[in-house]
Amino acid sequence: MTFSYSGKLAVLYEGLGDLAAYQQLAGRLSVPLRSVSMPGYDQQESFFLCWREGSLKLIDRQLLRKGGMAVEIEPRPGEQRSWPAPKTGALAQAIGRKTKTVIDATTGWGQDSLHIFRMGYELRCIERSPVMLELLADAFARLTQLDWVSRLKLEPPELIPGNAIAVLSELEHAPDCIYLDPMFPPKRKKSALAKKSMTVLRDLLGDDEDKDQLFAAAMKATAKKVVVKSPDDVEPLGGAPHESFSGKLLRYDVYLKV
Ligand SMILES: C[S@@+](CC[C@H](N)C(=O)[O-])C[C@H]1O[C@@H](n2cnc3c(N)ncnc32)[C@H](O)[C@@H]1O
Repeated sequence: MTFSYSGKLAVLYEGLGDLAAYQQLAGRLSVPLRSVSMPGYDQQESFFLCWREGSLKLIDRQLLRKGGMAVEIEPRPGEQRSWPAPKTGALAQAIGRKTKTVIDATTGWGQDSLHIFRMGYELRCIERSPVMLELLADAFARLTQLDWVSRLKLEPPELIPGNAIAVLSELEHAPDCIYLDPMFPPKRKKSALAKKSMTVLRDLLGDDEDKDQLFAAAMKATAKKVVVKSPDDVEPLGGAPHESFSGKLLRYDVYLKV
C-alpha cells in the first residue's frame, strides 16, 4: 500500500527550532512544508505535524492554536510506575503470564504497546502508516530519556515499518503472542465515540480493510497465541475465540495456536 497525504497533511514550521529537521520530515513524508509566516498557511491541509514542547505533534486544523497530539510515553493514570509493572487487568490476562515475547502488529498511538512494554514483556512494534511511524520514533527516542528507562538500561521496543501482513510472513523468530488492534468502523452513537486521537487516526488513515488477512497472517506467524482488541459490539475477528477478557467498552479475544 502506498500512502498519499496529498491535501491532507503538511509539516508546519512555527519559527522555532531547526528548520532543516522540518524540511527533512516534510521530505520523508512527501508533504508540503508550511510556515506560519506565510498568509493562508492553514487553509489547504487539515492536519499538521510540528514539534511543540519537545515532542512531535499531530494537530488538526481546528486545534491548531491548542496543543496537538503526541505519542504519550508517561503511564496512564492509575498505571504502576515500577518496571516490570504488575501484570494485572484484562490486557495482561489476555497476553498471559507464560508469554515472554510480543509483537504489536498495529502500533498506532503506541498506548497498548507502551502498556505491554511497561509490564516487562519483550516487545516489537509494527506500523505501516509513515506519519504514525514518525510520531512513534519521536516517542521511543523520548522514552530512552525517562529516568526509570535509563536507570534500568532498557532499550525502547524495536519499531518495524511496513505492512504487518508481509512483515509477519518473514519473521525469523516467532513471538509467543501477536497483538492486533485494527481500526473498526464506528458503530456507536457520537457520544460514545472513541477518543480524539483515534478519530483523528481514522480521519487521516481510514479503516483497516485488510483485518481478515492480518488475522490470518498473525495466526500463521505466532508461536502460541493471537490477541485481538475490538469494540465490545463487533463480531470477533477470527470467529469464536478460545478466551475473551472484557474491558471498558472493549474486548480482548484470545486465539490459541493449536
Ligand atoms: C486502532 S490503531 C491502534 C491503536 C493502538 N493499539 C494504540 O494503543 O494506540 C490501528 C493502527 O494499526 C495500523 N495498522 C492496521 N493494519 C496494519 C497492518 N496490516 N500493518 C501495519 N499496521 C497496521 C494502522 O495504521 C493504525 O495506526
